[in-house]
Amino acid sequence: MADRSLAPDTPELRERWGGFEFTESYRARADRAIARYPEGRQRSAVMPLLDLAQRQVGEETNTQGWLPLPVIEYVADYLDMPVIRVLEVATFYFMYNLRPVGKYHVQVCGTTPCMVCGSEAIKKAIEDHLGIQEGETTKDGLFTLREVECLGAC
Ligand code: FES
Repeated sequence: MADRSLAPDTPELRERWGGFEFTESYRARADRAIARYPEGRQRSAVMPLLDLAQRQVGEETNTQGWLPLPVIEYVADYLDMPVIRVLEVATFYFMYNLRPVGKYHVQVCGTTPCMVCGSEAIKKAIEDHLGIQEGETTKDGLFTLREVECLGAC
């Protein structure tokens, strides 16, 4: 089972991401996502906004992106919803990275159908090839390996 815990909320994290705001381009995309829902139902756009925030963080860090707590708080504020509600979504879905990842995010399904078809061996081969364990990123910051739940590819 993959670790779904948040990155520690440190002064360094606040310093780096505390001033996060959508760029003009991302803000336009966020507002279009919100506009798909009826007036007063803007909270329904929480998933696309988290995705957009993660993508923007990815662009800023030249990685696949992730969701530092201040960025999650920004999304909550943008949608006028309690942070805990946004955290519930962010921590539930594997598409949201809760810790920094590399430029390439390798995800191997560890759910039973894939496990009986050999996903453990695939994961081990990747670990051996990259010299990292599940959940780690290579020293050059290029590859992160994660075990995830069913990806719908079974
Ligand atoms: Fe692995 Fe569905 S069980 S993709």
